[in-house]
Amino acid sequence: MKRFVSFAALAAAALAQFEATDFNVTEALLDNGIDCNSLKVLFGDDQVETRSETAYSSWLNSLWSGQQRLIAPECVFKPEKPLDISTAILIARLTECPFAAKSGGHSSVPGGSNIAGGISISFVEKMNAISVSSDKKTVSFQPGNTWLNIYTRAAKDGLAVNGGRVASVGVGGLLLGGGISYTGGINGMSCDNIISYELVTASGLVINVDQNKYADLYWALRGGGNNFGIVTKFTVEAFPLGPTMWGGMRTYTQGAFSALIDAYYNLGMNAPQDGKAHQILSFSFRAPNVQLANVELEYAEPNANASILAEYNAIGGALRDQTAVRSLAELTTLLDGPASGTGLRQGFWTWTMKLDKEMATVAKDIFFEEVTSISDAADLVPAFSLQVLSTPILEKTAKRGGNALGLTAADGPLINALVALKWSNPADDTRMWRFAQKVKDRSFAAATAKGKAHPYVYMNYASPWQDPVASYGSTNKARLISISKKYDPTSVFERLQPGYFKLTRAAYSGSP
Ligand SMILES: Cc1cc2nc3c(=O)[nH]c(=O)nc-3n(C[C@H](O)[C@H](O)[C@H](O)COP(=O)(O)OP(=O)(O)OC[C@H]3O[C@@H](n4cnc5c(N)ncnc54)[C@H](O)[C@@H]3O)c2cc1C
Ligand SMILES: *[C@@H]1O[C@H](CO)[C@@H](O)[C@H](O)[C@H]1NC(C)=O
Ligand SMILES: *[C@@H]1O[C@H](CO)[C@@H](O)[C@H](O)[C@H]1NC(C)=O
Repeated sequence: MKRFVSFAALAAAALAQFEATDFNVTEALLDNGIDCNSLKVLFGDDQVETRSETAYSSWLNSLWSGQQRLIAPECVFKPEKPLDISTAILIARLTECPFAAKSGGHSSVPGGSNIAGGISISFVEKMNAISVSSDKKTVSFQPGNTWLNIYTRAAKDGLAVNGGRVASVGVGGLLLGGGISYTGGINGMSCDNIISYELVTASGLVINVDQNKYADLYWALRGGGNNFGIVTKFTVEAFPLGPTMWGGMRTYTQGAFSALIDAYYNLGMNAPQDGKAHQILSFSFRAPNVQLANVELEYAEPNANASILAEYNAIGGALRDQTAVRSLAELTTLLDGPASGTGLRQGFWTWTMKLDKEMATVAKDIFFEEVTSISDAADLVPAFSLQVLSTPILEKTAKRGGNALGLTAADGPLINALVALKWSNPADDTRMWRFAQKVKDRSFAAATAKGKAHPYVYMNYASPWQDPVASYGSTNKARLISISKKYDPTSVFERLQPGYFKLTRAAYSGSP
């Protein structure tokens, strides 16, 4: 029904009542042409970018993955406050318009933080406040922040938080999926250090969630991803750090590989002795046959000679050594260089095994064996990295009533394995993803045969075809689903925000 009806038509209908008893506001608004684009009418040009605007194109280029940059949303919405997000969610529900939310935009899942033909909500422009509490025990921040912003601000008060290791990564995705941090050996995963969330729910309510208020949601948000609402503020534990610490990357050739794996294993096993040390051991390949190892080492004090790092420090012959005493902010900036790969296509695939020298070696060998099959791909940057979910990290998953990840200290210590690929040609997409899957499948099969496999899939490193929530175990998955039914009974965040890991499924169905 059109809203502009003539008096004659109304009279002709001989209405008993001017407004029908079954008048439907929703239908009337839809008839008036309310749709995704109506955000522009409500919020104005400054908060809504549409396809013809340069701010729309530059927003696309702020996404990390090349595939995400090619997704065309109907509009990019830049909320200023939680109520704006509430309105956007309600408009999305009214018009059945799909939406996505972007914090730092570093999801490796195409469609994880940008949605074709829908509303892509972007926090970076107008929701990037940070504050340190007067007692200096907590830092609160909105989701438009990167870790560099947070560390730079916290350092002014001699503080740090347990966040990401790369400057330009966002706070939103990392904190909702878990979070592996330089200081994880002291504090655990990033999500276990969150004290409260300000959350916009499916019905557009703005609530504060902590261990006492909405305790079930508090548990679910620690690992449940984007399935429970849009977080508009995180309040996290702060701790004194700095002004400097020690760290950086060292690069080695093949001759050092076995010594590096020994040092990786021993540091992982010894983590309970000194949680200040951190490591990422990665392997990379360049055609025709250059095999390199990069080890990223940190110590949460300005000490280059911590005894727990002595085994690593004794490995000579580095091609390059960037380790030095520097601030946390500087370290994250240093690591951003090799990690960024601006504009390239990106792919992640992850799995988990018991911490074991043989498993680390077998997986590394499988990576190098298989990589020759894709080495002709244009602009290929293939990497395989080994991290440790150490006993101290796993113990802290029990903090504040536990989290949704399904990990316990008895599971560990664990290897977190990640294949990370960059390439440029869309025609290579399928074989890139299949390569990553094959390295995972073969390594996981080898681990399974030795009783060293572990089901956990880290959401923040998962490929679109992996199902992290299922990996949390059937009890946790069922609990997450029942919490979702309570706060989001019509599954708004599953139906209308479809592009990421959901409670009942992977981001994509099938396999690449
Ligand atoms: C270069 C690089 C370095 C990395 N380093 C680390 C690291 O040190 N430690 C680690 O654990 N992981 C790391 N990761 C993985 C990282 O945790 C994930 O890529 C994560 O998703 C990035 O968060 P983001 O906010 O930048 O991503 P986005 O793409 O913005 O968001 C990812 C997902 O989270 C959702 N989301 C974001 N904000 C909100 C919100 N406020 N409310 C509800 N949902 C939201 C989005 O909708 C999307 O589905 C790294 C990744 C890259 C590419
Ligand atoms: C109002 O209209 C909408 C859209 O057609 C419909 O989904 C809804 O069920 C209607 N509400 C009532 C109370 O009839
Ligand atoms: C670490 O030890 C080396 C020698 O073993 C010494 O040259 C260096 O100054 C020490 N560095 C720090 C920061 O203590």
